[in-house]
Amino acid sequence: MRGNIVLSGFMGCGKSTIGRRLAAALGMKFVDMDRYIEEKAGLKVREIFEQYGEAHFRALETETVRALAAGEDCVVATGGGTLMRPENVEAFHAGGGTIYFLDVPLAALQERLKNDKRRPLLQVPDRRAVIERLLNERRPQYLASADVVVDAGAPTVVVVRRLCALRSVELPKRTAPPQQSGPEKEKRRRKRRRRKRPAPPQENS
Ligand code: S3P
Repeated sequence: MRGNIVLSGFMGCGKSTIGRRLAAALGMKFVDMDRYIEEKAGLKVREIFEQYGEAHFRALETETVRALAAGEDCVVATGGGTLMRPENVEAFHAGGGTIYFLDVPLAALQERLKNDKRRPLLQVPDRRAVIERLLNERRPQYLASADVVVDAGAPTVVVVRRLCALRSVELPKRTAPPQQSGPEKEKRRRKRRRRKRPAPPQENS
């Protein structure tokens, strides 16, 4: 399969963590859009929002999408708001990308994001309510723009495995510990046998 692997979904759904692991498993380059924008701008996302406003950040996102869609194939972790702009969805699709929506239930997102200090949209007193409102607004668009919807409420390793399966690639197993041989192996075997031996019967006093 060719083209970018584009991970979409709400803040806290795991796009970056999953994307990094997936890229390693598939031998592809990984790009986290927020980090990419921060490096280019020399500012944190929070600072871009504070100094230039959200509209400017959205313009930087669109510029980034265009560059990534036209560049070499990689795994892209989008920002939670990136695919709300139809032109960004179109650009990824036009570049041959496949969009995977990482779908995580509201309660899990609220839990994962409860201590967040980085995301400008969540630095509000009624964070749980804001997450609920934004998710309700955005979920239809995540679903509509996705080529594949992935149940992503599970642990990272499970989600990565699901994505690998969708790409028909097996997630490499952890390397087995080195085999022991010779006297060391024999010593351990004897120890195990000793442990298994039933205790001698107790005499009644
Ligand atoms: C945003 C999500 C953030 C980041 C910015 C805005 C959003 O990315 O792009 O704070 O509008 O949902 P993550 O989804 O990686 O947190």
